[in-house]
Amino acid sequence: MAMCSRALTTLPRLLLNAVQNLLIPFIRRADDDAATKPTGRSLQVDGANGPRTALVDLLPPHKLEPLLALDLTDGGVGKDGVLQLVERVLQYSVNTWDQGFLDKLYASTNAVHVYQVSPALTLVEKYVTKRLAQLVGFTGPNAGGINQPGGSASNSSSVVIARNTLYPETKDHGIGARRFVLFTSAHGHYSLEKAAQMFGFGSRAVRPVPVDAAGRMDPAALEKLVVAAKDAGETPFYVNATAGTTVMGSFDPFGEIADVSQRHNLWLHVDGSWGGCVIFNDELRRGRTDGIERADSVAITPHKMLGVPMTCSFLIAKDMRQFHQSMTLPAGYLFHNTPTDEIYDLADLTPQCGRRGDSLKLYLSWAYHGSAGLSSLVAAAFARANQLHALLVASPHIVLVTSPDSPPPCLQVCFYYAPDGKLHADKDANSARTVAMAERLIRRGWMVDYAPGAQGKFFRVVVNRETLPGTVEGLVRAVEEVGAEVVAEER
Ligand SMILES: Cc1ncc(COP(=O)(O)O)c(C=O)c1O
Repeated sequence: MAMCSRALTTLPRLLLNAVQNLLIPFIRRADDDAATKPTGRSLQVDGANGPRTALVDLLPPHKLEPLLALDLTDGGVGKDGVLQLVERVLQYSVNTWDQGFLDKLYASTNAVHVYQVSPALTLVEKYVTKRLAQLVGFTGPNAGGINQPGGSASNSSSVVIARNTLYPETKDHGIGARRFVLFTSAHGHYSLEKAAQMFGFGSRAVRPVPVDAAGRMDPAALEKLVVAAKDAGETPFYVNATAGTTVMGSFDPFGEIADVSQRHNLWLHVDGSWGGCVIFNDELRRGRTDGIERADSVAITPHKMLGVPMTCSFLIAKDMRQFHQSMTLPAGYLFHNTPTDEIYDLADLTPQCGRRGDSLKLYLSWAYHGSAGLSSLVAAAFARANQLHALLVASPHIVLVTSPDSPPPCLQVCFYYAPDGKLHADKDANSARTVAMAERLIRRGWMVDYAPGAQGKFFRVVVNRETLPGTVEGLVRAVEEVGAEVVAEER
């Protein structure tokens, strides 16, 4: 298992060790405490600040923050650093396995919820989202974010936050007679339409904005559509720009889109679910994410490009006060603290009440590799995409969907197989060839997807930070051989 010795694949193994060595004794302590509980008291165990119960060493945020000592630096802390961190998180987490945990509608699971039941994980989420916000370029004092169960969920939440912020009356009274409309590029992800359906706008309220040859949203076309919607009595309120579109990997021109959004008072969200993690690499983000800091919210999904275990996604905020105002609801059975500028009961900010502690997965990965390590992982993946692109450009039987003259914008390369560079005039024939080849490639041990295009269905190959150079060479060889077989059968 040569792969197991490589840095990223080692991390899950480390975490499993951490579970064995740290989590099991943690849970066992709750079992020991069960014998003491009938006395009306609890087992006392050693704590950093003297004896404590097995249930929790509950500290207010300002005291817990220095003890948790959350810190993500350029260099990675490696195995020992990660294990020490897991130990500290457990030390200051509520032991929900304890017989004395009778607080919530669950037990024996560590959720992120209100601060009282998840103090350490709450601080981890606040810290990680603040760091992501800084990377995006949200440098104001109220920048932050929330952890969400996927890119689609991050996008959906941004739609509600946008509507409730710009039209606060809709929070209590609904959308009424207004005909709200949203804009996304013709290459945007379908989660926007899904959100529009869920929130009562209907998917037709999402207006596809034309793209250029590289798949980037055309800002002038956006403005025309916004003006036309206003003229038709509709209420435009939201633009989704994409950092790394699903099929072509394009990055929309955020600065110009921000200009349009500003002129028309629209919320600007950037769906960086796929390509957003380029913010970890200064060189790669240049020219790709310029202007992203002018957005109001950004979705970043480390379970894609960074390989953090599913699910791990974030909705990053320029101003968390907007998130709070648009999401908060009174629930006296849950929220017992007077809200201050700093929100610690994170369940008041999210569509979900209790959530998985997904932020910890990014934190551990980031701490292990360091910022420089994550930057190198992203760079390695892009180098592999460039290698694939160069091999395909060199092949006489490949027609690239994007320009052969510039490197791919993200980690996917899109192309047709076309003997001597000649595609069928009939797009259905091109589609049939692509589909037939994709099926044969699976039988050879290669799984690649395809998508509809102007000349029929084309291949979209997505590499990742673990793809080896030889894999890319082998794929191109397999495409050429399978392509020749399928073309021979076409005749
Ligand atoms: C651009 C973009 N946005 C959103 C999503 C949805 O992310 P998730 O699968 O985490 O819901 C995807 C999925 O590939 C995507 O490519």
